[in-house]
Order: sequence, then C-alpha cells, then structure tokens
Amino acid sequence: MAMDSQKLLRSVCILCFLLGSFFVYQSLFADSGVEDANPSVTLQVDASDITGRSIPETLFGIFFEEINHAGAGGLWAELVNNRGFEAGGQNTPSNIMPWSIIGDQSSISVSTDRSSCFERNKIALRMEVLCDNEGSSSSGSGCPSGGVGVHNPGFWGMNIEDGKKYRVTLYVRSTGDIDVSVSFTSSDGSLILASGKIIASAFEVSNWTKMEVLLEAEGTDHGARLQLTTTKKGLIWFDQVSAMPTDTYKGHGFRSDLVQMLVDIKPSFIRFPGGCFVEGEWLRNAFRWKDTVGPLEERPGHFGDVWKYWTDDGLGHFEFFQLAEDIGAAPIWVFNNGISHQDEVETPSVMPFVQEALDGIEFARGDPDSTWGSLRAAMGHPEPFELKYVAVGNEDCGMKNYIGNYLKFYESIKKAYPDIKIISNCDGSSQPLDHPADFYDFHVYTSAGNLFSMSNKFDQTSRKGPKAFVSEYAVTGKDAGTGSLLAALGEAAFLIGLEKNSDVVEMASYAPLFVNTNDRRWNPDAIVFNSSHLYGTPSYWVQQFFTESNGATLLSSKLNGNSSSLVASAISWQDNDKDYIRIKVVNFGSSPVNLKVSVTGLDPNIVRVSGSKKTVLTSTDVMDENSFTQPNKVVPKESPLETAEEAMSVVLPPHSFSSFDLMKEYAEIRTLVSDSRKISSTM
Ligand code: AHR
Repeated sequence: MAMDSQKLLRSVCILCFLLGSFFVYQSLFADSGVEDANPSVTLQVDASDITGRSIPETLFGIFFEEINHAGAGGLWAELVNNRGFEAGGQNTPSNIMPWSIIGDQSSISVSTDRSSCFERNKIALRMEVLCDNEGSSSSGSGCPSGGVGVHNPGFWGMNIEDGKKYRVTLYVRSTGDIDVSVSFTSSDGSLILASGKIIASAFEVSNWTKMEVLLEAEGTDHGARLQLTTTKKGLIWFDQVSAMPTDTYKGHGFRSDLVQMLVDIKPSFIRFPGGCFVEGEWLRNAFRWKDTVGPLEERPGHFGDVWKYWTDDGLGHFEFFQLAEDIGAAPIWVFNNGISHQDEVETPSVMPFVQEALDGIEFARGDPDSTWGSLRAAMGHPEPFELKYVAVGNEDCGMKNYIGNYLKFYESIKKAYPDIKIISNCDGSSQPLDHPADFYDFHVYTSAGNLFSMSNKFDQTSRKGPKAFVSEYAVTGKDAGTGSLLAALGEAAFLIGLEKNSDVVEMASYAPLFVNTNDRRWNPDAIVFNSSHLYGTPSYWVQQFFTESNGATLLSSKLNGNSSSLVASAISWQDNDKDYIRIKVVNFGSSPVNLKVSVTGLDPNIVRVSGSKKTVLTSTDVMDENSFTQPNKVVPKESPLETAEEAMSVVLPPHSFSSFDLMKEYAEIRTLVSDSRKISSTM
C-alpha cells in the first residue's frame, strides 16, 4: 500500500514536471518565433498592398445617446439639476425636485411662480425668508446660523475637488437688499467646501439680474451640494442657477475625463443624439433641436419619456456639433421623422418636420448670414460645422408611415443639399432597399455566441447599392453581465467581420456609449461613471484595438486548420512615417491556441518585419468585469514583440482578443542603421 502511494506520488510529480515544462516552453518560446512542429491553426497574411483594399476612413466611430444620464449628469459638466425649476412642469406650484429647502415653515416659505424673465421657461423660484439675523426687523425670529434657503444635490452629488474652480451663475430679483451665500457643502450641509457672496441693493436687483460667483474649493467631496442661503428677511426670486467646473474640455462645457475616453479610441464619427431619445415614447416628448439652441437660460428643457428623465438641454444641437469638432469626429445627426414609439404624423402632414430638419442642417452648415446659420454664429461658431450625414429617424422602418415620411425628407434634403448622405432605417443587408438611400442603418443586440457567428454577417451582402451603417451593436442579456469579457469577445469577432466587409460596411458604433451608475436604464454600456470616477468595460477596450483601422489597408488573411473558435484579420497602416502590419485574432474558445502566422507578399524593399508590440485582452474568468474598485481588471495588456518574423508562432490564450503589431523594415533603414554603427565604431 505504502509502495503504491509512493509510485502514485512519483507519477504525479513526473506529470507535474512535464506539464510545467510544457507551460514554461509555451511562455518562453511560443511568441518568439521558435518553430512549432505541429501548430493546430495557421494564419496566412498576404501583405501585398496590391491585393489589399482601403478601409473607409469612417469605419469605427461612436454613438452618443442621451440615455442613462449620459449627457445630463454626465458628459455635460453642468452640476445643477433642474437649473430653471421647469422640470416639474409649467403649472405652479410645481415640483422643484431635486432642489430641497433649508429651514422650516417658521423661517422660510418656498414656491414657484411664472415670473421668470425667460419667455420659454417662465417658472422661477420664489423664496420668502421669514427669519432675520440682521437686527433691523421688528418682527420674526432669528435665522439658524447657517441661514435658510435651498440646495441642489446635482446628479446624485456634485464632484467638488480641492483647489478646483467652479463658476456659479444665477438670475436673481428681490424687493429689498439681498445678502446671499453661494456655497458648495458636503451632502448634509455640515461642511463648507467653498463659499462666496451675492450682495446687492434693492435697486440693483429690482429687476432680474444675472450674478456670477467664482468659487475655489478648499476640500474634496464627490457627493457635494450647492446651497443658496441667507439670514436676511425678505422676498427673493431665483432662476437659471448654474454651476460649471472651469476645466471643461476645450472650455466647451464637456466633462474632460469622459471626453478623454472618447478621444482615446479615435472615433471617426459621432452619431447623436439617439436612439429612442430622438423618437420619444410620444412625439410631444421627442428631442426637438430648436428647443435646445440659443442661450442656455432660454432653453425650455424637456422630459425624455423613453428613458424617463428630465434634461435641461444644456447639451443641445450646437453642443453636439461642437463636441464632434472637438474630438475630430464627423457629426452624424439623427432627427425625428414625425414618428415616435406611440404616435405618427401622417405623410401628407409631415412637411413641418421636414422643414425642421432642413433648418437644423442650415443651423449646422449654413452661412453665418443665413437664418439659422446666424444663430450658430451668434453662439460663437461662425464657421459652418462639417455636417455630411443625416439619419431619418431611428428604428422606425416597420412603422406605418416610415417610407412615406422618409421619401419626403429624402427629396427635400437632396434638393437643398445634394452632397449630404442620407441614412435609411431599413435594413438592406439581406435584400436591396426599395427606396433611395446612401446608407442603411443596421442594429444588433444579441448573445455573445450569436454575435461571434455574425462575423460573417455581411459576407453574402450584395456588393451593389447602399452601404451599411452598423450604428448600434452590442452583446446583451446574461452573457453581458454589466460588461463582461465574454460580451467583448463576441463584439471583437463581429468588428473583425465588419473590418473584412468594409467594402459594404461604411461605419460602425457600439451602443450605448455611457452609463451613469445612478440611473442604469440600459445594460451593458461602454463607459461607466459616477460624479467623479469612470472606467471602460471590456467592450470599450475592444474598440481600442481598431483605432488604427480607419483609412488603413485591409490585407487578405486566411485561417487554416481547426479554427472554428477563431476570427482574424490583418491591416497595414502608417504611423510617424513607419509602416506597420496589425494582426488581430479573437480566441472565443476555452483552450489556448497555438497559431502559426505566415506573412507573405511583402514589398521587395522590406528586408524584414520586426516585432513591435503584442496586446492582449483576457482574464481568468470569461465573465470578469471591470468596476470602480477594479477598473483595470480586464484591460488590454501590452508587451514587446521583439523577435517577430514573417513566419512566427504565437499563443492565443483561452477567451482572448490579441493583436500583433509588426513593423516593416525597409532596406534604406537597415543601411542607415549599419552606416551609423560603422561611424560610431570608427570614432
Ligand atoms: O442603445 C439603446 C437603444 O437601443 C437605442 O435607443 C435604440 O435605438 C435601440 O433600441
């Protein structure tokens, strides 16, 4: 018995040694060009530019929708929620949520009335202070030491950071002298982070007057609030209260850290502002661009009834174009075509919507002396924005009046702007469209396995007719968790398929782009944030593998062998006068794959390809996700690929997405290098 267990132990040790040696061999040599005697799969890449084909400059972009508080309480850096007190509706006394009152009934009375100086949003806050600490009043009691007033928590707390500056603006009116403290405090008001004063005589504020206070924070609180308080008896009205950080992206009002995430994936276009947000559950609640332009104070705001929240519409039609320009992406404007989820305008009555779209185009790209172009110029952008694409509605193809309405838009827009490309909501991937269009919209939300298989989706699509705009794609459902590696791998395979079919697919974007975790209306999303922190889901990081693809050359590549769990592509591109080949491979299976790569067809002037870098997105569990506490759990890991050759073996970890960048070395470079070596050795 003892003998048997010794034998068993010895056998286990030998097995462990053999297994260990195998893994050591794998990790040491598999990526280093060492010949593998029996690779299970080979990838042949033909690097000849002659057989390659250009990938559209526009292929990989982004889609921004006002969903999940992506804009209000997100990308738009405004800290005050319901700045104009309009969110409760036009009737008074209206609901002033999320504003709250500081003080009790004996010291303050707060209501709303319709006395605002802004014609399109008449509601103002009326604050009657009953207490007094100024000593001049004969009646009433003293105010609490911190004063009485109102506070706004922003969007689940304001991010106030030590040393940063914030510009608070508001409109005020009073029947007497005023002395108001404007402060950022901790969420319960107990700690003051920054404070300033608005002091004015009755004469100065007898009419609505704009006031501004610049506050510098002397402490950090990610859940802070804004307070307007006083200890002086009297009647004060407030309206259009705004608090903006001064460090917004390019000074244009966008939250810098969120924009940087967009810039990092080099999007070629930005589709906006929705999505269902554009349609509305009912037409009366749809996003209508004319209500979102001009001075911020004069925008009425609206309740988006699909995603069920109020927006003050600081992020409006102008700001979307500004954002596109700031991040170097082509704007793609989606407008309402007279159709919502629940109601539709009949085609004979749709012309006002058509005119609205024409006016919106004129706003974006008309001369500064045109009717709507002049408003854009007045807003600070005399040069036209480069609007070249518009989409007629969102997911409306099946609706009764879609085709009729679409044709009215198509005819009018083409007549006025022949160069503008028009995107139809109807899917042309399986059969030709029965109406004219430059592109057709294609949306897909499905399981990881399905999306992986859909890497072939466009292989059979007719090469004639309008091209596809895959404007929404994502893995959803249980495979996705709240942003899993598994979802990202399905998406990576799908994107590789789009890259390979980019002769018929012109543009693609993940959806949705952002989620504020305090209002997760749609799951999963690419970028997750709260007031102060953010991280990319693995789906976000997949997109970074494609940042060099726009405008690159697609090389022909072919997998041979047992490759059912793999999808691969190869591109060549230039960066800083250097030529690269990037090979991307998804291993969707649960076993590692030994891949033998063979690059042929290189330009004769290329003496060799040398290693540059390897990037791998994987994790120990395929359902792993990132989080605020572990934002970098599933992110691409780069390592040098120093000994790459035209023929090399690489290991693809289970459940992984890998890219291998090879630098082409031209004869001249090698000559130069050896010449410089000669010079240095003779010195
Ligand atoms: O991306 C989320 C939603 O999915 C979009 O609003 C809509 O277009 C689609 O149904």
